[in-house]
Amino acid sequence: MQTIKYLSEAIGSRPAGSPNDRAAADYVAGQFGSYGYAVQRQSFTFPYFVDRGSELQILAPSGGALHPLTLGLSAAGSVDGTIVSVGLGRPEDNPRDGLKGRVALIQRGDITYELKVANVSKAGAVAAIIYNNVQGNFQGRLGQIAGIPAVSISLDEGNRLLQSLASGAVSVRLSVNATSEQRTGQNIVATRQGASPDMVIFGAHYDSVEAGPGANDNASGVATVLELARLARSGALTQRFIAFSAEELGFYGSSSYVSTLSLQERQQVKAMVSLDMVGVGDRMRFGGDQQLVDAGLVIAGGLGIQALRLEGSAAGGSDHTSFTSAGMPAALLTYTVGNDLDLRYHTSEDRADFVEPANIDKAVQVCQLLVARLVGGR
Ligand code: BES
Ligand code: ZN
Repeated sequence: MQTIKYLSEAIGSRPAGSPNDRAAADYVAGQFGSYGYAVQRQSFTFPYFVDRGSELQILAPSGGALHPLTLGLSAAGSVDGTIVSVGLGRPEDNPRDGLKGRVALIQRGDITYELKVANVSKAGAVAAIIYNNVQGNFQGRLGQIAGIPAVSISLDEGNRLLQSLASGAVSVRLSVNATSEQRTGQNIVATRQGASPDMVIFGAHYDSVEAGPGANDNASGVATVLELARLARSGALTQRFIAFSAEELGFYGSSSYVSTLSLQERQQVKAMVSLDMVGVGDRMRFGGDQQLVDAGLVIAGGLGIQALRLEGSAAGGSDHTSFTSAGMPAALLTYTVGNDLDLRYHTSEDRADFVEPANIDKAVQVCQLLVARLVGGR
């Protein structure tokens, strides 16, 4: 509870890359250190994006405004230019004389938004407008930060621009109001070396969404991991404890960690458990790797804890998926309130007062028994 209060009350909301996120990293590193661990801090970068809206004005002919949506990870800024229609925006669609200083009008479809924007940008375009290939507009996101402002418009508005183009030059002003930049986060890693290099990893993200103090999501998981680390003694298996950042923005911390592992190290990971939202609810839940889920259910059952499989999309919503995608057995340990998710998560109401310490205690016990079971090879 001390950990949960410190992270959610003394620090508060901890969006990845913010000063509060760094304060949380320092706190976790300090706690690991106080338990006698040599703490590793691994830095990584991730794309940070906040959209404050975009505007698309037709300067000539006739004026008027369209209704663009900013593509996620678009560059910010305001540019003027004449429109060139470039079909689907594949490299072979670019005009011979390039797109220098022009605004590319691109049809949705066939290749990713990111490739379309990169292709026209490379050809010199100052902005990209992708129009829909079905009725209405759409909200898209690029895979990485674009070099130029990029927006989407509806099929109707795309056709309007194409029609005007047929009878002469069309010039526009596109303004994207956004923050779009690479930020830095840190994973905090502590390892209790065992007789074998074979390893079990317990992880929890310490970043939160902007909107709330993140007591259940996920100071509760961090508290569980810290408690496991505090209690861990060296035994047969190596145990590693990791606090991840930038989970809320797309698992950036855990993906970065996984990308640092060699093939041999990946093979040594016998199990990874993501502790995420373990503070609120009355039913322990396991999602992810079948065998790990089964093991968790058996262990919890043996302790007289009501535990169930986690069904639905929540089973994929945490850092364990970075490990399963890379072929390692990994699972999520969480709780639900009856059959529902904690309604307060991602809100300003996600406070320490609602956390039940007994939930953390049970999660710790289950994880400890999981280590014992993995040693037994079952
Ligand atoms: N703690 C949640 C995941 C979660 C939800 C676990 C419900 C257990 C029950 C996590 O922090 C989160 O919000 N994940 C996102 C995905 C992420 C890529 C933005 C989600 O589930 O929408
Ligand atoms: Zn969350």
